[in-house]
Amino acid sequence: MTSTRPSPDWLTDAVLYQIYPQSFADSDGDGIGDFAGITEHLDHLAWLGVDTVWLNPCFTSPFRDAGYDVTDYLAPAPRYGTTEDLAALVEAARRKGIRVLLDLVAGHTSDQHPWFRASAEDPSDHRYIWSERPVDGFVASPGGRIGWYRPNFFECQPALNFGFAREDPDQPWRQPVDAEGPRANRAALRGIMAHWLGLGLAGFRVDMASSLVKDDPGFVETGKLWTELRDWLDRSHPQAALFAEWGDPAAAVAAGFHADFFLQFGGADHGLPLRSLWNNNAGTVEEFWKQGPCYFEAEGRGTPEVFLDAWRSAAQLTEGAGHIALPTANHDFSRLATGPRTADQLAPAFALLLTWPTLPAVYYGDEIGMRYVPDLPDVEGSVLGPTYNRAGSRTPMQWAPGPNAGFSTAPAERLYLPVDPDPHRPDVATQRADPTSLLHTVRRLIALRRAHPGLGARGSVEVRHAGYPLVYTRAGRYLVVVNPRREPAVVPPAALPDGAGRVGRPGGLRPLDVQGVRVGAGGELRADGFSYGVFDLG
Ligand code: NOJ
Repeated sequence: MTSTRPSPDWLTDAVLYQIYPQSFADSDGDGIGDFAGITEHLDHLAWLGVDTVWLNPCFTSPFRDAGYDVTDYLAPAPRYGTTEDLAALVEAARRKGIRVLLDLVAGHTSDQHPWFRASAEDPSDHRYIWSERPVDGFVASPGGRIGWYRPNFFECQPALNFGFAREDPDQPWRQPVDAEGPRANRAALRGIMAHWLGLGLAGFRVDMASSLVKDDPGFVETGKLWTELRDWLDRSHPQAALFAEWGDPAAAVAAGFHADFFLQFGGADHGLPLRSLWNNNAGTVEEFWKQGPCYFEAEGRGTPEVFLDAWRSAAQLTEGAGHIALPTANHDFSRLATGPRTADQLAPAFALLLTWPTLPAVYYGDEIGMRYVPDLPDVEGSVLGPTYNRAGSRTPMQWAPGPNAGFSTAPAERLYLPVDPDPHRPDVATQRADPTSLLHTVRRLIALRRAHPGLGARGSVEVRHAGYPLVYTRAGRYLVVVNPRREPAVVPPAALPDGAGRVGRPGGLRPLDVQGVRVGAGGELRADGFSYGVFDLG
């Protein structure tokens, strides 16, 4: 796919960082993270080298789904601060070369949103999807209106009505996409986006981006909706970016998004390409996510092929038109350090992430190897089922050693989740002081990516060995070796470009950033357990 669409000039070089505002930094000790806390910690992000921050929803909300249940899209939740505090964060970030993206919850509101409360009283209102008779999956009206509404996620999240792609006289709630309610909702989305872009925000991550038009085979009508918004952005805000939460970059980019994530769900393989890298069945596990060994597994029983195949296909379909973002984790999915995968095993994962032609996305805390904490109680809708517990990925950022992870001393409400009980849990302060720490490794790899654009999203990639180790070249000029298993692994000689074996000699390999990859006695390239190497082929 090629595209003549304009695209923000910063996007291709972006390194993303996801901040869960509840848990990132608490400036006033009230027991909950806030905008001012983030502002105070921008130095950490600038030092690390990331340049694009995505904030999870920070709007007013009853927090039945951690803020994905919005009651006012234009007002920040008081727990995080005021609009001025958010503007101050955006401005302080801008001065450090960091852009801020907000989370746009496009498909539903809270059932406490004034739009919904009005709709639940007025049978002529069609901002939401209402049936006059009970329908499977619909929820009874909480107001004077006699009817049942369609939820989008939890029952407290009524779906906004963007219409249906297919009508059916027996199901009168299936309105066409150009009916009055859907048109009002599309206009509202544009208004929300214009408001925040006017304040200096750099774009949005769009929640459940594929969910807007219902019963939409091939997402044809959903694509038209996003393309209309993208056309408007291209004209009026060409430096703004739209990231989808879709999990199928080819579909999302075709629908008009600048980028989409490989996710734990979505696409033809239902998220297996991402999970085949990271998911060791020990963190946030849906029953149907259970899978064989992933590639980043100490026993070395996985394969990178599932990821690579999906990557090739998505890259081909999005080439020139959009980007694929690759996350370490997110607020709905296990962290890298989950179950048997300990922080000292993570360097090769970051080496792959930061030398791959993707938009890399670091989930807060993964840069120090914060652990997924199992079996935490539900907080604000984090527990979705007996095994699908998102709380373990949402614990407070560990800024310093100590019982509260240096986060807060006096929680006013029980909003915080316990920190990792392991006394040796990682923290930023300790790792900043230790040049051999994971934090320094991540920082070095980001700096390397910036210093060598061929390692970034633009350069070509050629996979030369898809096993243990994974071996690839970038831009025909860099060689990357990644060994995520405990056992050493030898690079097959045929995987090396001609002459590359002569390490340090003319035309041979020049080490750029190497942890545990060395030339063996027989001249072969050997990768220790949990090692990586990035070389210049000169
Ligand atoms: C996806 C979000 O990432 C998740 O946290 C949320 O619960 C659902 N969408 C509903 O908005």
